[in-house]
Amino acid sequence: ASKPVVVVGSIVQDCVSYTERFPKPGEAVRGHDFKLGSGGKGANQSVQAAKLGASVTFVARVGNDVFGESNIKSLREAGVNVEHIEKSETAPTAAAIITVDSHGENTIVVALGANMELSVERVNSLEDLIKQAALVMVEYEIQEETSLAALKLARKNGVRTFYNAAPGHPDMRKDLLQYTDILCTNENETEFIVGRHLSTLEDFTVAAKECLELGPTTVVVTMGSRGVLVVTKDAAESFPVPKVKAIDTTGAGDSFCGALASLIATHPDELVAPLAKKAAQVAAISVQRHGTQSSYPSLEEVRAAGVEI
Ligand code: RIB
Ligand code: NA
Repeated sequence: ASKPVVVVGSIVQDCVSYTERFPKPGEAVRGHDFKLGSGGKGANQSVQAAKLGASVTFVARVGNDVFGESNIKSLREAGVNVEHIEKSETAPTAAAIITVDSHGENTIVVALGANMELSVERVNSLEDLIKQAALVMVEYEIQEETSLAALKLARKNGVRTFYNAAPGHPDMRKDLLQYTDILCTNENETEFIVGRHLSTLEDFTVAAKECLELGPTTVVVTMGSRGVLVVTKDAAESFPVPKVKAIDTTGAGDSFCGALASLIATHPDELVAPLAKKAAQVAAISVQRHGTQSSYPSLEEVRAAGVEI
């Protein structure tokens, strides 16, 4: 079997209401649909990577409850190796209350529960697993210390690292970038890292180059309907994303990152930019369907849609 993508990240039970428009503070609006789904950035990325054919091992933590069970089941069914997912006796499975409006935009409140117990010690006990990975991938829905530990351990063992700095916040730490090979951010997260407002493509290109100076060899910025920007020390290129009618954009960034991680693991000698272009086509399929993991296409579906991967 090919070397695995090892994801160290979050599992979240998604509780999604679909409505015409978002309520204002103090207001109640009617929803026309409600769906439960398995989510969380780490889980979503693991599922998308596995659905595209990568071998994926996921290190995570849930509560000892129904949501924990059902989320592990979704991962297993998608082909993710779940043997390193632990159950907490002290914290519940994380849950996200998500609202999606008629434009497919969302608001999310996430309570991270057991994810916040995933510890540095736990990660450090998995050196044998991390050592033989093709790629180690982390995001920000677990303790920053834990993500940092995973990146450091990978770097120590010469394993490539992928850091999706999501969800970002204004005080986000920058030391993780030192141990990052591939950094993926959206517009907000890029602004948080460089500490200023950005608007034009030129602004984002300059900002991505500043991120390169903090450690990564490749910086990928997803700019929503404006496309994707990929910057390395040798080149800066941007490309548009397919124009589609969005029904639910929740987790589109995770679909993109999971697809990109999968492609990098299976095409280790190729440049990131052409792979990112394919990953964007995968994510474009996901926004046309409800939910996060439930909306992610398989390799067969991606190929049937005319994407060559
Ligand atoms: O990126 C989308 C994910 O973030 C959702 O699945 C939800 O769990 C939120 O935390
Ligand atoms: Na979707």
